Amino acid sequence: MLSEHREWFNNFLENLSKGFDGNVLDIGKSTEWDYSRLFKDYKTIDVLPKIQPDIVGDFCEYPFDEYFDLILCIGIFEQFRGSGTFEKMINKIKGLLAKDGIAIFGCPGKDFPCRNQVDSGKRTNLNELTKLLSGFKIVSFKTFDEIYYFLICKL
Ligand SMILES: C[S@@+](CC[C@H](N)C(=O)[O-])C[C@H]1O[C@@H](n2cnc3c(N)ncnc32)[C@H](O)[C@@H]1O
Repeated sequence: MLSEHREWFNNFLENLSKGFDGNVLDIGKSTEWDYSRLFKDYKTIDVLPKIQPDIVGDFCEYPFDEYFDLILCIGIFEQFRGSGTFEKMINKIKGLLAKDGIAIFGCPGKDFPCRNQVDSGKRTNLNELTKLLSGFKIVSFKTFDEIYYFLICKL
């Protein structure tokens, strides 16, 4: 079933994509949602080869050779593993974001259910997120009670 927060995000991204001509990096490929249809230049990176991301690798370690106009970081916080840490990921995103680029963070709150064995169950709240993202300008945010948060950020 399409959750309220995912429905909101899908609509938000669809609207954002209209007239958008930049390149997009989606960190952590979704097996449920395919956003490639919305953007001309869109790629996914994931550590799991079996889900066939455009780039197989750890986001924190991968040597990108371009900046991105839009970076999606949805549902990564609670699943983060490998050599990275959340702070390392945040710094990497900062370094990869083009001037005037947008980074969108989607993070589960304390009432988001634990979904699978990969999910560490690590949760956050808006206060903590705001602190973790203090190096960004938070342009807007959308909350779904304590279930899910989306933060739209620029440098
Ligand atoms: C919840 S899923 C994908 C969420 C997806 N972005 C969405 O919009 O629903 C999280 C994905 O992040 C991937 N992942 C976890 N740590 C990663 C890392 N360090 N680098 C790249 N991908 C990673 C996992 O393999 C998993 O496929």
